[in-house]
Amino acid sequence: MKMLEKLKKLEEEASTEISGALDGKTLQEITVKFLGRKGKLTEILRELKNLPAEEKRVAGKTANELKLFLQEKISEKTESLLNARFEKLAEDEWIDPTQPGIEAQRGTLHPLTKFIREAEKVFAGMGFTIASGPQIEDDFHNFTALNIPADHPARDAQDTLFLSNEAGKLLRTQTSSVQIRWMEERKPPFRIVAPGRVFRKDDFDASHSPMFHQLEGLVVDRKISLANMKAVMEAAVKRLIAPEAKFRFRTSYFPFVEPGLEMDMSCTICGGGGCSVCKQTGWIEIVGCGLVHPNVLRNVKIDPTEWSGFAFGFGIDRMVMLRHGIKDMRLLFENDLRFLRQF
Ligand code: PHE
Repeated sequence: MKMLEKLKKLEEEASTEISGALDGKTLQEITVKFLGRKGKLTEILRELKNLPAEEKRVAGKTANELKLFLQEKISEKTESLLNARFEKLAEDEWIDPTQPGIEAQRGTLHPLTKFIREAEKVFAGMGFTIASGPQIEDDFHNFTALNIPADHPARDAQDTLFLSNEAGKLLRTQTSSVQIRWMEERKPPFRIVAPGRVFRKDDFDASHSPMFHQLEGLVVDRKISLANMKAVMEAAVKRLIAPEAKFRFRTSYFPFVEPGLEMDMSCTICGGGGCSVCKQTGWIEIVGCGLVHPNVLRNVKIDPTEWSGFAFGFGIDRMVMLRHGIKDMRLLFENDLRFLRQF
């Protein structure tokens, strides 16, 4: 009978292909080729309806048996391929858990981490608490509460990295946001420092990085003046960078302080005579600071007629570069062990 012969041939063809398959992908293809919707066996089954009744019964039965037979054969083959793969893995990748381990080489702390820890100690010695805040911030804590007006250039997408999937969220551009978070939840007086990462849309070159570190300071108490601020900052920088350093303060502008100042330190490289690091001025700008703006205090419901304070924000990466004479900021973030092991 023609139909039975066809089925017999199909059985042989399929069996040979299944036995010869070397991987799961080939088996998949074979399954489609014979049993798929447009597969060879399916086509035959479709032809059955044109046969006389008796022939149809016999051929139909055979065809269905063949279908089950091939399905069975394919799943057996799949399993045996899988087993073979595991056996090979076990052979190639065996380990001896009784072997003694290899001692890990002891690492060193990153120079930034070291600096931050030392700074925390120095400020803790002056009665400061260590604070921290989220790196993903909202507009209110990073800008609005800090008295930064809506049209300030820092709020521009050119300078700030905004999150595209969450409206109003951004990568904090300054640790000053921690001032707000701290004051929102507590009553003065307080003294805090908050080291951490900040982000700005910036180049990555010898003196810029889109991610860098700041150390924020905030003191709020009764009758706080610039004299208090000067004393604290000078003591800290002397201990952290150069005991012999001299300082000067210049007026500057930050919306969240009034007056705003910039503190410069005499150049540690040339001692103040002028060199390429200080651009021949003898001074290096290290920190923005000032007395906390009354609007900022009002924004966190602290009465500016009763309380006053000062705030500062050190650029940690620059200080670490100055401290070790590192000329290229990228070295701090490239994780080159030859560089890092020196510290
Ligand atoms: N947040 C300022 C900056 O990123 C630095 C600063 C902090 C200035 C605190 C004044 C007071 O430039």
